[in-house]
Amino acid sequence: MNEVLQAIRARRSVRAFRSQPVEPEKVEALLDAGRWAPSGKNTQPWRFVVVESAAKRAELAKLVPQRDMVATAPVTLAVLLDRQAGYDELKDAQAIGACAQNILLAAQALGLGGCWIGRARDRAVEALLGAREGEELMMLIPIGYPAEEPPPRERRPLAELVRRI
Ligand SMILES: Cc1cc2nc3c(=O)[nH]c(=O)nc-3n(C[C@H](O)[C@H](O)[C@H](O)COP(=O)(O)O)c2cc1C
Repeated sequence: MNEVLQAIRARRSVRAFRSQPVEPEKVEALLDAGRWAPSGKNTQPWRFVVVESAAKRAELAKLVPQRDMVATAPVTLAVLLDRQAGYDELKDAQAIGACAQNILLAAQALGLGGCWIGRARDRAVEALLGAREGEELMMLIPIGYPAEEPPPRERRPLAELVRRI
């Protein structure tokens, strides 16, 4: 199967990580994949905060519901939406979604795992991240070498989802 299609099919949300650090060049590759996502009018409204110091990771873990996931991930990427760079609430959010999926697929391609955490969108977390005026946290993505191999979660058959006209 084509490598991209294979990565799409093999990707899982990974919520448990080995302690092995993630190489800085791999973190860079994930961020680079994120910035190559499409965005309406090419506004590129994403901003990234890389949470990698032990102190900040521990502080962040205390503020999120899925504490262990963030505490054990060697690095967590925060994806913020810069409202001043964007132009349309819905389209900006769609662009950020494309950015996050690029990051997750790049992680899969590099032997890493990650999980999209939406339940962390909170003022206290934004303050810890040093979010700037007009920036809004959209998701956290803890990243690391997987310590679990989650089975695929069910997908609805195409026949249920698709109409042809
Ligand atoms: C918008 C969005 C928000 C999500 N928020 C969370 C979350 O807060 N915590 C979590 O563990 N997983 C979260 N996930 C991951 C989903 O639970 C996961 O993608 C889904 O169950 C399918 O599993 P898979 O990614 O392994 O295919 C989120 C995914 C998306 C797209």
